[in-house]
Amino acid sequence: MNRLLGQRLVIATHNPGKLREIAELVAPRGITALGAAELGLPEPEETGTTFEANAELKARAAATASGLPALADDSGLVVPALNGAPGIYSARWAGAARDFSVAMAKVEEQLAGKLDRRAYFVAVLALAWPDGAVTTFRGEAHGDLVWPPRGKNGFGYDPMFRPEGRGMTFGEMPPAEKRELNHRARAFAKFEAACLQ
Ligand code: IMP
Repeated sequence: MNRLLGQRLVIATHNPGKLREIAELVAPRGITALGAAELGLPEPEETGTTFEANAELKARAAATASGLPALADDSGLVVPALNGAPGIYSARWAGAARDFSVAMAKVEEQLAGKLDRRAYFVAVLALAWPDGAVTTFRGEAHGDLVWPPRGKNGFGYDPMFRPEGRGMTFGEMPPAEKRELNHRARAFAKFEAACLQ
């Protein structure tokens, strides 16, 4: 796995924020992160039915097209009382306008009358090699959902998600505190331990 050290690594995202975050993480190990957009790679359609499948298909497409190892991520909010929704459809629940106040209101509406308000965020990272080998790393952050939404920090469903053992929602927390607790950091820690040592 430590074949990665000193290599070029494609980050299979067209999101500049995600690219910057990952580039900063791998740079100290001598790894050069290249964005899928700068390489002109197409964005595959997310046709998988799990976070793992979607992360894998994005990583695999980028590795095959570039001939380099590629890292992709897929994430979302899982609500057990809604049979796992919005799950892999978390971004799509915000509609074309990407309005998460609409997505959060939809979650709240569907939870009406239910006592179980538990929820968790999932992030899956997939590392794919041009020969087709893929490994995935999953991070989760568990908590419950509050209403109305609270706080202006973060993004997406953060203002309605309160991590276990904390009074504040992700939307109210200082960004540094969310970074320590969140699902993406946990998936990264597993990737780091397996691939960057
Ligand atoms: P994707 O991983 O870019 O497909 O996006 C998944 C969606 O899940 C995002 O658009 C957000 O709605 C939601 N999501 C993922 N991680 C977080 C988070 O840390 N806070 C709030 N929402 C998140």
